[in-house]
Amino acid sequence: MDYSILVNKSNPIANSYFDNLSLVECLDIDGNKISVEKTAYNMYINLSAYLKTKNIFIEIASAYRSIEEQQEIIDEFTKKYGVDYVSKYTAPIRTSEHHTGLAIDLALIVDGVKICENEDLLKYEDIFFEIHQSLSDYGFILRYPKGKEDITGYGYEPWHIRYVGKELAKYLYKNNLTLEEYVEKQLTKVIIFDWGGVIMHRDPVENNDKQAIIRVIKSFNPTLSDDEAWNVYLNSLIDENGIYISQQCDEVSKAKWVERLNNLGNFNASLQEFSEKFSAEYLSVGYYSDLIDYIYSLKDKCQIGLFSDLIYGCTPALNKQLDLSKFDNVWLSYQTGLRKNTLDAFILIENDLLVSPENILFIDDSTVNIMNAKKRGWQTCQAFGYEIDKIKASVTDFLNNR
Ligand code: DAL
Ligand code: ZN
Repeated sequence: MDYSILVNKSNPIANSYFDNLSLVECLDIDGNKISVEKTAYNMYINLSAYLKTKNIFIEIASAYRSIEEQQEIIDEFTKKYGVDYVSKYTAPIRTSEHHTGLAIDLALIVDGVKICENEDLLKYEDIFFEIHQSLSDYGFILRYPKGKEDITGYGYEPWHIRYVGKELAKYLYKNNLTLEEYVEKQLTKVIIFDWGGVIMHRDPVENNDKQAIIRVIKSFNPTLSDDEAWNVYLNSLIDENGIYISQQCDEVSKAKWVERLNNLGNFNASLQEFSEKFSAEYLSVGYYSDLIDYIYSLKDKCQIGLFSDLIYGCTPALNKQLDLSKFDNVWLSYQTGLRKNTLDAFILIENDLLVSPENILFIDDSTVNIMNAKKRGWQTCQAFGYEIDKIKASVTDFLNNR
């Protein structure tokens, strides 16, 4: 059962939907037999019980409707309120969410009096305010909110709630999104770039970041060979507990990392000396500005993101090379605490974006990172920044395939 199903004027319900629909019978406020989707009903009961503790009494005015029942409502409302009202508040047949069994129109009982008519319900804004605040805890959303009429296609309906499941309800509530906006977001394509291996020079003949690091280490111990200096750096990254101390930005971890570098490289640099040298050398590293221009040019076609495992000392170089404000999302390991060698880093991004995995293209030079992205179902392109033609080809391919 897809609880995130979108049914609206542009997305009529498919006949096949009814094959998997599991309805339960219950009674509406007037004691008539009605049906609601099973899980949605159970959650409604919980919501109703909770609201009772707040002295708010809700009942169901309408829930599942067959195509015929929706037509009857359209006819009844047209007689009662006229065509203008019907076009604002009533869905044409096959486009009503009530066909899903997941939508419930609430009625209220206030001081023992049943409140069922739309125009009466609109007077109880304070009660609905309380109800709306609790909806997401039970997996419901307010489906036609105020201010989003142009997006949903309907006027404000404080009574019409829709079951979408708790996780999605919480996300939509927190981010003030309608189901329409969520589905649109899901279809959005996102291209996520690595920084180090893709933006910065990596060609061995160029002034690349590896050479910068070797220069830093050798400036503190000139007796080391290039290979020795590089190994000091590699061995310093992870501490004896397997933690990437180099990529934490708290002062204790920074100090620990420099202490480790000192020990491994047999030198004696203070944290400040090391940080200054490190930042300065990184700032001197070249980068592919043609690729950066290309990345910015993608902004009107998709979202762009930056995802980097990096050391806090790289920040000045990162800021020099890129205008981070141009990226829709930026995930830096020293801020998220997650590196690309763990799937959690990828899951974090998925939770931030809420797009389908196949709508993410990830461009990175590392085999391990690419493998992790593939495990999550992302599209990938393994390339260095100097392979710009390969990157462009994969981007074009990705954007053209819907
Ligand atoms: N009142 C909502 C829009 C419906 O008729 O489905
Ligand atoms: Zn409704």
